[in-house]
Amino acid sequence: MLAPLQGLTNASMRCVQMELGAPDVLFTEFVSVSSASKHRLARRDLEEVSAHRLAAPLVVQLVGNNAQALADGASILQDNGIQHLNLNLGCPYGRMTQGNTGGGMLRDVRQVEACLKAMRRVVRGSFSVKVRSGYDRHDQIMELLPMFEECGVDFIVLHPRTGEQKYSGMADHALTQRVVAATSVPVVANGDITSADRGSALLKMTNATGLMLGRGAVSDPWLFKRIRYQQAGGLDEGQDEASAAVQRRTQLRDYLLRLLEAYGQVYRGDQQVLAKLKNVVQFIDDEALRRWCGKVMRCSTLRSFTLKVESLADMPM
Ligand SMILES: Cc1cc2nc3c(=O)[nH]c(=O)nc-3n(C[C@H](O)[C@H](O)[C@H](O)COP(=O)(O)O)c2cc1C
Repeated sequence: MLAPLQGLTNASMRCVQMELGAPDVLFTEFVSVSSASKHRLARRDLEEVSAHRLAAPLVVQLVGNNAQALADGASILQDNGIQHLNLNLGCPYGRMTQGNTGGGMLRDVRQVEACLKAMRRVVRGSFSVKVRSGYDRHDQIMELLPMFEECGVDFIVLHPRTGEQKYSGMADHALTQRVVAATSVPVVANGDITSADRGSALLKMTNATGLMLGRGAVSDPWLFKRIRYQQAGGLDEGQDEASAAVQRRTQLRDYLLRLLEAYGQVYRGDQQVLAKLKNVVQFIDDEALRRWCGKVMRCSTLRSFTLKVESLADMPM
C-alpha cells in the first residue's frame, strides 16, 4: 500500500506511483473533517479524492475528533463514490496533538471508540485505522486491540513509533510482531521499509498481512515491484554496482520527469511546481546521489531543475 503522506501523495503522485510501482492500494493524504462547518469537508478535498480513476482501490483517510462529523464526512465521501475509509490515529504534529486528533486522540480512548463506532455504522466498504504504537507509551497499542475488534475495524495499519517520538529512532517491528499475534484483525506493517530485503524480512518476521510504504516509495516507486518480485520467489539479478547505479539514475530521471509533467498540469506557476518537486527530492536518500540532490534543492528556477533532472542519467559516476 502507498502510505498517506500530507503534501506528497496527492492525485498526481498517486498516478505516477501507479504507473511505476503499481501499489495494490493507494491512500490519500489526510482529509480534515470539520466539526464546526456543516459542509464537513473542504470542496477541494472532496473533488480531489472523488476524481479517482486509477486501477487500484483508493482509501480516503479522515482526520478529526468528532464522531458525528466523521460519520457525516464518511457518508459524503460514499455519496461521491468512495468506498474505503481510514481514520488517522497517528499524526504527531501541532494542531493534531493539541486538539486530540490524529496521534493526539490516543490520549482519549473513549473518544476514539465513539469515533470508530460512528464511522463503522456508516462505512459500507472497508474501514481501517492507521495508528502509532501509542501516544507516549510504546505498548499502548496492545490495550487498543480489543476495541478495534469490537468496533469492526477491517484492518490496522501500524507505524510502531509513539506520537511523541515523531520520526526519531527506528520503527519497532518487534512490536508489530506482537500485535499481529495478539489480534484477529489483519495488520499492515508500516515504517522504515526502504528496500525489498527489508520488506520481505519484515513480512516474514511479523506475519503481517501486508506492507505500507511511505518515504521509501517517494524515494523509489519501483520498490513495490521489487518487493512483489521477491515475494513471488524472484531472485536478485546479480547486477554489478555500476549498472545498478545507471539503472537507478535512469529510473529516477523518468520518475521526476513524469511528476514534473503531472504537477505542471495541476499547479499554477513554475515556482509552485518547483516547490512540489523539491518536496519529493528531499526524500531521495541514496548515498550516491546526495550531492546531486543538494544541487537540485538549490535550483531557483524550474528550468534549471529540469535540466539537472534531464542530464541525471548521463552524469559521471
Ligand atoms: C511528510 C509526511 C507526511 C505524512 N502524512 C501523513 C498523513 O497524512 N496521514 C498519516 O496517517 N500519516 C502520515 N505520515 C506518516 C506516514 O504515512 C508513515 O506512517 C510514516 O512516514 C512511516 O512510514 P515510512 O517509514 O514508510 O515513511 C506522514 C509522514 C511524512 C514523512
